[in-house]
Amino acid sequence: MSPTRRELIRTTLGLAALATGAGLTACSGDGKGQGVSSSSGPASIAASKVPVGGGAVLEGKGYVVTQPTKWAYKAFSTVCPHAGCNVSAVRDGVIICPCHDSHFKIADGSVAQGPATTGLTAATVTVDGSNLKVSA
Ligand code: FES
Repeated sequence: MSPTRRELIRTTLGLAALATGAGLTACSGDGKGQGVSSSSGPASIAASKVPVGGGAVLEGKGYVVTQPTKWAYKAFSTVCPHAGCNVSAVRDGVIICPCHDSHFKIADGSVAQGPATTGLTAATVTVDGSNLKVSA
């Protein structure tokens, strides 16, 4: 027995809904760059892990903390303004985005090398004993 016209339409609509749902699932997350989602809630790191003239990425927390000069801490969002990847390293005085190799200055998050045309978004960092507390 072949399906009726009504059954065919119902099946087609059901498949279309499934396809749409699958598409939305594939696009979940931040929908940019690596698709790495990062939290931007409060976070902390031991001050001893943030070297003078360098910094540290708080993996999975959405922040990078730097210490351009002794006792002067800075914090930024890890989200690269170029295409939304997360910066992944601090080396030679710059914060590095692995996707297209943009570099940002540790002192203020400004662009040191493109393709990014704007700097990293600043975050708040406070010293709490031997720890650094970071928040948006
Ligand atoms: S997303 Fe960071 S350089 Fe392109």
